[in-house]
Amino acid sequence: MSPIYSLFSVLLFPILVSGDGGSPKPQVQTLNIQRPEYINPKLPPRTLSPSKKFEGSSNLVDLRYHMGPVLSSSPINIYLIWYGRWTPAQKLLIKDFLTSISPDAAAPSPSVSEWWRIVSLYTDQTGANVSRSIVIAKEYTDARYSHGSHLTRLSIQQVIASSVKSAPFPVDHKNGIYLVLTSQDVTMQDFCRAVCGFHYFTFPSMVGYTLPYAWVGNSGKQCPEVCAYPFAVPGYMGGGGPGALLPPNRDVGVDGMISVIAHELAELSSNPLVNAWYAGEDPTAPTEIGDLCEGLYGTGGGGGYIGQVMSDKKGRTFNMNGKNGRKFLVQWVWSPALKACAGPNALD
Ligand SMILES: *[C@@H]1O[C@H](CO)[C@@H](O)[C@H](O)[C@H]1NC(C)=O
Repeated sequence: MSPIYSLFSVLLFPILVSGDGGSPKPQVQTLNIQRPEYINPKLPPRTLSPSKKFEGSSNLVDLRYHMGPVLSSSPINIYLIWYGRWTPAQKLLIKDFLTSISPDAAAPSPSVSEWWRIVSLYTDQTGANVSRSIVIAKEYTDARYSHGSHLTRLSIQQVIASSVKSAPFPVDHKNGIYLVLTSQDVTMQDFCRAVCGFHYFTFPSMVGYTLPYAWVGNSGKQCPEVCAYPFAVPGYMGGGGPGALLPPNRDVGVDGMISVIAHELAELSSNPLVNAWYAGEDPTAPTEIGDLCEGLYGTGGGGGYIGQVMSDKKGRTFNMNGKNGRKFLVQWVWSPALKACAGPNALD
């Protein structure tokens, strides 16, 4: 659905081993490459939305281009707004993900930049592709909850307006994305019930400009079983059902957010003004390239399976590599070339 996307998110914070002073030995040994084990866990159904997996049934998917722009100028500039209370470790984890998207991020295959390569196959009517490069242009921390600890679809635009003024952020019409991330104590209209994140554009009457933006919340305290799935599973499964998977960076809330952020960025870039790439006849509830593959992370997914993903020697689940030795579990996206959901860890 257009501004309404559902995804999942959750995680604890990663203990970041960065080689700052004092440590007698550099951290080189952490690149100890262990062959990951492939797993294909069956999990209980998610509680949020009906399955939107269309894998292997491309005639049911009517993804069409509606003549609007995509984010083709390079690089795409992300203006990050940290709303509420964030730890340095949480910020670093999310920034490591964002900077893993560009092709110059050194990460072994399957990688985040290979995943974004699929998004870059979308073009506009001039034949320009979605940019392959993304940078964090500027950050702003709103630790004082300037618009309260409950936000709505409209007040989120005030958060952006305040940040544009205070940071100050440039008004970047050409290739800017304003990404608002709310901490786990911030509630949001429809969060957990209908959405885990959404993207849209701001209104001139609220912000002064039309700027594409996305919001993603940390669901760690509020609804990890909904928005940080599969790192948390619904309570009604009790002791009988399969358990949750271990998050790759040990932060259920933030590891879960990563896949939601990925989903929103993919859709925002291919449908920034909600008039480019989407399926369905209703532009107020479009099904976009992330929605089509929600809950799918690997080959053979569907019907309660997330698909073939990897697990490291500590049993943490992931499906792609990022910068700085990071691992992430990120949902697949719809490939316009394959007319199917695709990801870098595909086995076929
Ligand atoms: C741009 O997209 C087209 C169509 O999907 C694809 O064939 C081409 O390889 C893409 N170009 C680049 C530079 O990624």
